[in-house]
Amino acid sequence: MNSIVAVKRLDLTRHVGTELAGFSLLNLSDAGVQEILQLVAERGVVVVRDQPMTIPEQISFGRRMGELHVHPAYAQSQYPEALHIYGDENSKMVPGEGWHSDVSCDERPPGVSMLRIETTPSVGGDTAFAHQGALFESFSDTMKNFLVTLKARHSGDLPWRNQYKSVDPKAYPRNLHPVVRTHPLTGKNALYVNSGFTDRIWDMEEWESDMLLKSIFDKIAYSVEFQCRVRWEPNSVTFWDNRVVQHHACWDYFPEKREGWRVTTTGERPYLAL
Ligand code: SIN
Repeated sequence: MNSIVAVKRLDLTRHVGTELAGFSLLNLSDAGVQEILQLVAERGVVVVRDQPMTIPEQISFGRRMGELHVHPAYAQSQYPEALHIYGDENSKMVPGEGWHSDVSCDERPPGVSMLRIETTPSVGGDTAFAHQGALFESFSDTMKNFLVTLKARHSGDLPWRNQYKSVDPKAYPRNLHPVVRTHPLTGKNALYVNSGFTDRIWDMEEWESDMLLKSIFDKIAYSVEFQCRVRWEPNSVTFWDNRVVQHHACWDYFPEKREGWRVTTTGERPYLAL
């Protein structure tokens, strides 16, 4: 198939998420892959149902989207470019519980993530998404003009320090990124701080940084008008653009099993074009 233009399309909510049906990702032309990337950049999230594929096929598709990212802490030896997403009755944690943008601590953090869930629980296991461009646009000009002046530190060990109480001395990446970043395909700006990885607004007192980050994280979590939820079916594939959305995996299915694989492109170093 050359194009997704004629494909059946349903927007999940006004600001974020679109579901497409009636075609096979694996048969898409290069132009079709670029259309998916453009749509993901605009809508933040694109869901495509009924896409059976193997892990190597998923990796090959991912390579057509761009250079692939290898997770700094969880790369598997057999498929370093595919992140295993897994939860069952023995799990003490599952990946992605909490609002975050994937691996934003990297110097060139992930661009587009492509998650394929093979095994779904009987109910639950949704992924929630929040559009950071629409949220940023809703702020006053005074707030927007302030936020565009800021940079923030993203620390790879924050999830392990805070959420999992780990004292693992392994060195995770830490990088400074603009608090507002520009998407290279749309030219639009979006907020780029997340409670998963961002631990400090730069050039501010600690209390000032804590106060600002807490307010922004609360705003992200509570602004349901800029959110959508993806309900998974076996063989669903969901793409999201980490430059414009954050996501939150809902672990409400314990002790049932949920399993899938995520392949992710490496994005550009985040920048702000004013
Ligand atoms: C993630 O990539 O953060 C996991 C998302 C999910 O399992 O729904």
